[in-house]
Amino acid sequence: MAKQPDIYLNGRFLPLEEAKVSVLDRGFLFGDGVYEVIPCYAGRLFRLEHHLQRLDNSLHAIRMTNPKSPAEWEEILTQLTRQLPGADQSIYLQITRGCTGKRDHAIPTDITPTLFAMTQPASYPDAATLANGITAITLPDNRWQRCNIKAITLLANVLLRSEATDHGAAEAILIRDGQASEGATSNLFIVQQGEIITPPKSEHLLPGITRDLVLELANLHGMTFIEAGIDVKALEEADEIWLTSSTKEVMAVVELNGQRVGNGRPGPIYSRMANYYRDYKAQLQAGHEAT
Ligand SMILES: Cc1ncc(COP(=O)(O)O)c(C=O)c1O
Repeated sequence: MAKQPDIYLNGRFLPLEEAKVSVLDRGFLFGDGVYEVIPCYAGRLFRLEHHLQRLDNSLHAIRMTNPKSPAEWEEILTQLTRQLPGADQSIYLQITRGCTGKRDHAIPTDITPTLFAMTQPASYPDAATLANGITAITLPDNRWQRCNIKAITLLANVLLRSEATDHGAAEAILIRDGQASEGATSNLFIVQQGEIITPPKSEHLLPGITRDLVLELANLHGMTFIEAGIDVKALEEADEIWLTSSTKEVMAVVELNGQRVGNGRPGPIYSRMANYYRDYKAQLQAGHEAT
């Protein structure tokens, strides 16, 4: 079996088996931490500054400051990815509040955060899944009120995703107060009469890096789009439904709650966007500044 790449933990690069964190770490005890998943295409970090900005926002929201500068993170992550030269990879970066040696909910004043990052070969959607689309169901959004924080506390998302799997669906689209917010692990877009619609950023959804890129590509290529609420009726009657994330990229939903979306195939606007997204990625892989 190929050797696992070393991981980064608190200033050191180590084999995975040697990496140890205290059981009193607040990440382990309380889920007190935040994370990022950063794609790396052909050895090039994807939208790193956007991911680091979101990391800063998440840290700020949980009353922490980033212990590393963007240049320091870039150095650490580049060193990680060099272990798989030229490969498409997925980087996981996590910061927890750290460990004081006791279990106490109160946020301590003097504590050193635990920094962890690892890289793995990317497992992006295969061509058939992209071409055929996926199925989804709607579920009540029973997560907390701070979904804009990329918190490691993901139990609700894990259970929602698992409920979707129980129903034979690939993803759950979450409904709060009659509005569809996002997927359990992705952002939501619909197409209605030729217009692309995605819910505006709020505390009810994660500000996805892929979501922002899709809107940039729509803007660049003169596609009509708005950021507006999507109620259940609009979702059910949508001509197209898409989900986006760093690992899903842009994916068409072809069946919702057992009903066909549009004609049951990925729609024409989706196909246009999927092409733009693929071109963007190909430029990055070829080492060009993607536009
Ligand atoms: C709840 C949720 N929404 C949206 C996303 C998409 O974010 P990104 O495009 O930055 O991967 C994710 C990604 O994991 C997610 O977990």
